[in-house]
Amino acid sequence: MTTATRAPGDVDLADIDLTDPRTFLDRQKELVGIWRAFRTQDPVHWHAVQGRAVPGFWVVSRYRDVMEVYRDNKRFTSERGNVLATLLEGGDSAAGRMLAVTDGRRHRELRNVLLKAFAPRVLEPVVDGVRRRADRLVREAVARGTCDFAQDVAEHIPMATIADLLGVPAADRDYLLSLTKQALSSEEEGQSEEEALVARNELLLYFSDLAAERRDDPRDDVVSVLAAATIDGEPLNEQEIVLNCYSVIIGGDETSRLSMICGMHELIGHPEQWRRLKEGEVTVESAVEEVLRWVSPAMHFGRRALTDVEIGGRTIRAGDVVTLWNSSANYDEDVFDRPEVFDLGRTPNKHVSFGYGPHFCLGAYLGRAEIHAMLSALRTHVAEAALTSPARPIHSNFLHGYSSLPVSLRAER
Ligand code: HEM
Repeated sequence: MTTATRAPGDVDLADIDLTDPRTFLDRQKELVGIWRAFRTQDPVHWHAVQGRAVPGFWVVSRYRDVMEVYRDNKRFTSERGNVLATLLEGGDSAAGRMLAVTDGRRHRELRNVLLKAFAPRVLEPVVDGVRRRADRLVREAVARGTCDFAQDVAEHIPMATIADLLGVPAADRDYLLSLTKQALSSEEEGQSEEEALVARNELLLYFSDLAAERRDDPRDDVVSVLAAATIDGEPLNEQEIVLNCYSVIIGGDETSRLSMICGMHELIGHPEQWRRLKEGEVTVESAVEEVLRWVSPAMHFGRRALTDVEIGGRTIRAGDVVTLWNSSANYDEDVFDRPEVFDLGRTPNKHVSFGYGPHFCLGAYLGRAEIHAMLSALRTHVAEAALTSPARPIHSNFLHGYSSLPVSLRAER
């Protein structure tokens, strides 16, 4: 992302189709300006949809309105989908069982169960693994001199981390990786939906078997925690166990991977910021937060309204689909000073890249740790980095980032 190329008045919001991934590819350089136009011209905007059963959806673009909806899971629900694709299809088949698409008491109970698997005691060794892996992958890439940073470096961190967290045995990791790639990848256009469905079912079967093993022989991992959990004296059912294993993969793989890839991309594009990081003028911690704000890896999430409710002066009707654009809220000039400037030392930096409120990202600590490990490894081992050919953006209206980032890396002496 770069600074705006059009004045806000130049954008006709009716021309912007947010359901179409091509909007985010073809107009990538204009996006900052487009989102500014949404915030200033019509901050709670009605977006029509052609040729589908839904009349349309709301586009919420200002920080304060985005926060208001995120905060409120009484008047807005995630149980009928939480991203545009499922919201427009009419629902999510995992609703009421998978954390991210469950609300009310069951959500609180499930979240408390999962929080045990994200306790610092459990995460500490996982984060150690992240650091070691990032350091080794960057050192190896530097030794080669050139690499595809997306495929050779960043791709090998999040799934390995999630496999550690879930407690997947080493022998099963390649199998799991190939299944998750087929099941989830939103990167390429024209993927077979059937292949993805088969892989998704195999993943669920895999976790069902692993949960049965862990029930007899528990360890310190997510699968064991879910397999042993009880709510009101009742164990979780099979579906809840496997869907929530799956939800950790969905939540934690692409988002973290794209953040690391975009972090590298932006450091190359902003040599002055790279210098500040290298020379210790900014902390790695604040650099992590600015990468998260700037990249906004999950561009939007969404809800359905349960009652009539007023947001930003517009009346949203019960049943309406509401989308919350992190990629706009994170650039809201009412909250961020000169938001179009990539500033690794930015403070305060209260971005919404991990959402907010009851569904706030369960893996935020881990996501931050992954980006931190990557930036630290780059700072330590890389003297200079450059693009060797253009990055390839992913095809998505939900996630932002690149599937390929060919770079040359010169070693630090
Ligand atoms: C929820 C972003 C990493 C697991 C969320 C939400 C956002 C988000 C915005 C809120 C969704 C909503 O309100 O509907 C990110 C980003 C990440 C990241 C940008 C990386 C940079 C991770 C990791 C994991 C994870 C590493 C797990 C290992 C989850 C789960 C939820 C969630 C389980 C659902 C929480 C709930 O509904 O209570 N994430 N995430 N995420 N994330 Fe992440």
